[in-house]
Amino acid sequence: MLNIQNLNTVYLDSQGVKVAGIENVSFEVPEGKLFTLLGPSGCGKSTTLRSIAGLEKPDGGKITANGVTVFDADRKTFVPPNKRQFGMVFQSYAIWPHMTVFKNCSFPLEVGTKKFTKQQIADKVMRALTAVGLDHAADRDATKMSGGQQQRLALARAIVMEPKLLLLDEPLSNLDAKLRDKMRFELKRLQRELKVTTIYVTHDQEEALAMSHEIAIMKDGHIVQKARPRDIYEQPANRFVADFIGTTSFVDGTVRNTDGQKLTIDSAIGPITVDHSEGMNVGAKAVVSLRPENLEIFDSKPTIEHNNVFEGTVYSKVFLGETLDLQVKVGEQILLARAHPSHREPVGAKIWVTIDPARCIALNPQ
Ligand SMILES: Nc1ncnc2c1ncn2[C@@H]1O[C@H](COP(=O)(O)OP(=O)(O)OP(=O)(O)O)[C@@H](O)[C@H]1O
Ligand SMILES: [Mg+2]
Repeated sequence: MLNIQNLNTVYLDSQGVKVAGIENVSFEVPEGKLFTLLGPSGCGKSTTLRSIAGLEKPDGGKITANGVTVFDADRKTFVPPNKRQFGMVFQSYAIWPHMTVFKNCSFPLEVGTKKFTKQQIADKVMRALTAVGLDHAADRDATKMSGGQQQRLALARAIVMEPKLLLLDEPLSNLDAKLRDKMRFELKRLQRELKVTTIYVTHDQEEALAMSHEIAIMKDGHIVQKARPRDIYEQPANRFVADFIGTTSFVDGTVRNTDGQKLTIDSAIGPITVDHSEGMNVGAKAVVSLRPENLEIFDSKPTIEHNNVFEGTVYSKVFLGETLDLQVKVGEQILLARAHPSHREPVGAKIWVTIDPARCIALNPQ
């Protein structure tokens, strides 16, 4: 449905020197899927989205949506934004003041190139408002709505034109945590229901994991990994991705030997056995990523079949209701563990940690 090839959008300073932007960004989004651009502030997410929308004119590359090439640097094709007919919600969504909720939503239909009858407009608006759960509020003054309701209205306004492609730039950024959680579910349901191809921009990793069919992790204007949410989390391509997605403890080491399917990595906490990962050679430096939920803790030395048993002490702990987050000190290294709240070991107590080799991720250190 959407095909982006080698997109380059470069910003120059007053001397004409390249300062930032995106380079060689390529990805494809199948019809009806939700694709997320995720990365830290300034990595180029909005630039990518604005380039797709036609709000930025890239210096190179090609964009094809729904069989139509809307941008091609080589052929000098540039379809203006209003002719691309994509739905958009920006980082700072603007609700039109002095208008009702209904009017905010019907406005794009009234000023668009396609002409609709009054009845058609009413039907479309009410369908969009129902989809975001605002049908009951159609007659209310839009500026007197809560932040969450305004954000939903911005979304209704984007989908009322029934766009083939929906571009969402941090559409939940202005909501408090609880409302954001709720809207995440609603937005996901809505996207799946309408089957509208969507590009979703966020710097919130949980949001990306929860919403997406596929995620592209961006850094300094480049895509560094593109994969399904579970694969991004379980098989990060490098340290940056492992660090950005989820919580993890890194342990530096050196590959001692490769024994069939297993690697042994010598580290400051002792040898760590890791299920074999591609491209790790004996003698090479490695960093092992350990997710807190994969650390099991015991108050006495457990007997298990693998070698990953480490003795440490409870360094600190935080009771979070449904989980107990622990910092376990093994040698000089602090490992994060997420345990069942029934654990009662006090700070300073001796503790044993085990980690299944299948759940240890060995990465190149850079
Ligand atoms: N109009 C512009 N002129 C010059 N530089 C720009 C312009 N817009 C963005 N940039 C720079 O390009 C880089 C990418 O910006 P972009 O807005 O795409 O980041 P982002 O990933 O959306 O970040 P955030 O999460 O903070 O919204 C940044 O270094 C930014 O400073
Ligand atoms: Mg942005």
